[in-house]
Amino acid sequence: MKKKILITWWLWYIGSHAVVVFEQAGYETIIIDNLSNTTLAQYDGIEYILWHRPTYYQADITDAQALEKIFSDHDIDGVIHFAWLKAVGESCEQPFRYYENNIVGSLRLFEAMQNHDVKKLIFSSSATVYHPKSLAKINGTSEVDRLWNISNPYGNTKHIIELMLEDMAKHKSRSIASLRYFNPIGAHPSGHIGENPQWIPNNLLPYVLQVAKGQREFVGVFGNDYDTIDGTWVRDYIDVNDLVNWHLKAYSYIENHKEWIEFINLWSWAWTSVLQIIASTEKVTKKPIPYRILARRAGDLPCFFAQPEKAKKILNWKSETLIDDSIKNSRKFMQNQKEL
Ligand code: WQD
Repeated sequence: MKKKILITWWLWYIGSHAVVVFEQAGYETIIIDNLSNTTLAQYDGIEYILWHRPTYYQADITDAQALEKIFSDHDIDGVIHFAWLKAVGESCEQPFRYYENNIVGSLRLFEAMQNHDVKKLIFSSSATVYHPKSLAKINGTSEVDRLWNISNPYGNTKHIIELMLEDMAKHKSRSIASLRYFNPIGAHPSGHIGENPQWIPNNLLPYVLQVAKGQREFVGVFGNDYDTIDGTWVRDYIDVNDLVNWHLKAYSYIENHKEWIEFINLWSWAWTSVLQIIASTEKVTKKPIPYRILARRAGDLPCFFAQPEKAKKILNWKSETLIDDSIKNSRKFMQNQKEL
């Protein structure tokens, strides 16, 4: 019998790609999403790729009764927990919404796992848990770098959840991998699933592609007076297909390592500035992309990229996708969207 994996908030971008790789690796996925930032079109995209529709519950992870039903209906082997709000700037404007969704939702989920003795968990953490000064380091940020004085509420929610995970692992014999991502971009090569925000995109690449498509007038670049290659911030962009493959590797690892917890940076080592992302998109779309330099964005993090040693050592893999291919896949996905 196939092992069942619960994937929280699957439809929204990374989760939908995780459903595909876990199903293709022989697991059965059970999915929960409240549709707050996506549509069932992603579900159709999954069906197109897999030729079947995995079990899906439309529910919120803050809803304890809904979680109880899912855990009672299925013998869940482990959980991949993606459910989060994830925009740095928005979290500064609406911190309580972030605490409610990210912290309360995770708490409800962890309680349900405990009630049903589910011990394996992959948590989608973030590079935003790092202290901004650690992020500015030239060799990249390692997992032992400082976490205090995080620059925005989104990062604080992830840090608080990681503290809960440490307690769970220590006192409740769980096997947990908390994966700290840098900046996920890209889409499935089929162009049938990808990031499809239901409002004006907060993240850079979806915004740049909407400008390329003529939906928006110009890209606002948040500052060009930083100490970087071209004055704009540099990030470690990681392709979403590579990212979910890292999750698969981490799950295999925790299947063989009981009572284990690790915090692991997921990396691509493809450091790229805001203007370089715009230039790469121009190359892919063969269109000029207008941009204007704006003021710095509140809560924005400095240059950041991962120190990759731990992921390489434990999970024994490396990211494979080139940035131009990520952009091509995202563009293909956007071209398939009826409403765009
Ligand atoms: C990238 C760069 C902006 C939009 C991300 C995720 C977050 C988390 C951490 C995983 C920055 C600049 C952006 C625009 C711009 N990852 N920018 N104009 O802030 O690095 O945070 O990493 O948890 O989920 O959001 O990502 O894509 O918003 O910004 O100039 O319209 O692009 O200043 O330098 P960010 P982003």
